[in-house]
Amino acid sequence: MKTNENRIRIAIQKSGRLSDDSFALLEKCGIKTGRYKGRLFCHSENFPLDLLLVRDDDIPNLILDGVCDLGIVGTNVLNESLLSLGNSGFSCVYEVQKLNFGASRLSIAIPDNCEYYSVSDLNGKSIATTYPYLLREYLKRNGIEAKIVTLTGSVEIAPRLNIADAICDLVSTGVTLEANGLREVDVVFLSYAALVMTTSPLTPAKQTVYNSFKRRLDSVLQAGESKYIMLHAPKSALKAIVKLLPGVENPTIMNLEGNDRAVAVHAVCKESVFWETIDKLKAEGASAILVLPIEKMME
Ligand code: PRP
Ligand code: ZN
Repeated sequence: MKTNENRIRIAIQKSGRLSDDSFALLEKCGIKTGRYKGRLFCHSENFPLDLLLVRDDDIPNLILDGVCDLGIVGTNVLNESLLSLGNSGFSCVYEVQKLNFGASRLSIAIPDNCEYYSVSDLNGKSIATTYPYLLREYLKRNGIEAKIVTLTGSVEIAPRLNIADAICDLVSTGVTLEANGLREVDVVFLSYAALVMTTSPLTPAKQTVYNSFKRRLDSVLQAGESKYIMLHAPKSALKAIVKLLPGVENPTIMNLEGNDRAVAVHAVCKESVFWETIDKLKAEGASAILVLPIEKMME
């Protein structure tokens, strides 16, 4: 499949954990994706970008083969693919940007009724997984001799079918493990969704498109973490209150009409504003506290 010289092509998971969030992120970047059920190729009408909807496991290879320039994939899949491809993988595909969704963990789980005290209990056991390379690294790191049973799916039923003593699989909410009478005992790899990219140089036209896409993405990601906060602060506690605002460098301080003991503070908090922060602000005497979302942010 030849890529259009002036449009960038991104591989996205067709259906699964990352699909909706991947589409939502592109939409937030102002890119109309033209998504509808069953479609495997989407052509954005308002941005020079095409989407290929595929199995997540295929995304690193599609970039390696030059079919796509970019992809959104879990680092579990990315790292498993890179390890399986060896040098050719590591030199062709790389993680550009951590995204704000898809957090999960690749974990070891065993049947509920089995005992487990430490990782050494895995010695001599068999472990079913679709991630043999990441599992092998983990076992090696911990000096464990165990048999890896590589499956292509439905790993969670392996212990019940006596195919393996334990499993190594992705856990997000934990519902799948629970439903299959398994419990998580150790984490092998922490995963998140990432923007990944080819290491091959893009054509100048594509590079321009990519730069514009990346600027939008950075702005969306930064805005997601940031909040606009407004509050009234007694002048006597102003310093202490400003110090409590997460990631704030230069707040705007304004006088309040008819009140010379307090001021209004407006600031962009570059880190999450937690309830604990709000409680502490109140304890210092802050009032009329408003925390607003920021949609876009350009530095
Ligand atoms: C993973 C894993 C479990 C499920 C766990 O699959 O294989 O089936 O998610 O999620 P839970 O803890 O919320 O129940 P994944 O989304 O990676 O799908 P795939 O293996 O088909 O790519
Ligand atoms: Zn998958």
